Amino acid sequence: MKERDFLSIDDLSPSELNDLLDAADAVKRDPASWRDRLDGKSIAMIFEKPSTRTRVSFEVAVSSMGGHPVVLRADELHLGRDETIEDTGRALSRYVAAIVVRTFGQDRLERLAEAADVPVVNALSDFSHPCQGLADLQTLREKKGHLRGVRLAYVGDGNNVAHSLMFGGTKMGMDVRVASPSGYEPFPQVVERCLELAGDSGGSLTVTHDVEQAVAGADAVYTDVWASMGQPPEGRATTFADYQVGPGLIELAGSDAVVMHCLPAHRGAEITADVLDGPRSVVWDQAENRLHVQKAILSWLLHRRG
Ligand code: CP
Repeated sequence: MKERDFLSIDDLSPSELNDLLDAADAVKRDPASWRDRLDGKSIAMIFEKPSTRTRVSFEVAVSSMGGHPVVLRADELHLGRDETIEDTGRALSRYVAAIVVRTFGQDRLERLAEAADVPVVNALSDFSHPCQGLADLQTLREKKGHLRGVRLAYVGDGNNVAHSLMFGGTKMGMDVRVASPSGYEPFPQVVERCLELAGDSGGSLTVTHDVEQAVAGADAVYTDVWASMGQPPEGRATTFADYQVGPGLIELAGSDAVVMHCLPAHRGAEITADVLDGPRSVVWDQAENRLHVQKAILSWLLHRRG
């Protein structure tokens, strides 16, 4: 039987989170020494939503560590018709060493994890995007040299990415600020939990509607699409207009602040093209680090730590 799944950054203790970031750094420095970490193991990857970065980085991560990725779109499976996610997990557990899944509700992910005998990895759910959050923390640590006390301003929809950054940031003692329009705040239970985490770590969490307050003096300004996959975009351009990350807003951040986005981006909507493509942007480093983090996660789950 498996020992662990990876469904949320909140599944990790602060020291496990730190170890995973160290492992991601180690494999980035020396990928050749990780060549046999998956050693003939097959990893199933189910995508119920579109993906570019997550799908390709996991697929490349598995094959470059000696494993065999089995990428499955839901519409190719009985899962997309009438087989339950539990039965899908039970069957796949007889063939593969782990299941990576991108899906809708966190409950769906939890049902899969409960039924599967092999580790399940959340490759994005409506609730959280922990693999993205880890890559973002790796990127921030590279750019700032440390995480404790780093001021991260997340601007926009209080979505799955925001939740993962909140869990990870408050666990690592960061000063996390989230600015969202009314009605688009992070989930209250995530705010409550992250306030506890910040209390334990010496970090802080501010959730506000005031974007300028959030960005003032920040070391990093992060945004994401205004309508995540499966959400209706209608009306959001008006609701989020004051939350666009543009040059005026960036002026309020610290002089060496970096700009982050998990991608895909909509230039002219949540972020202006000059900021996304400008000198402060670290978005391609974030995208690259997805690969290193996926290797670290799979290696850790399969008990061959880096
Ligand atoms: N950021 C992210 O998860 O990208 P994809 O949707 O392309 O996987």
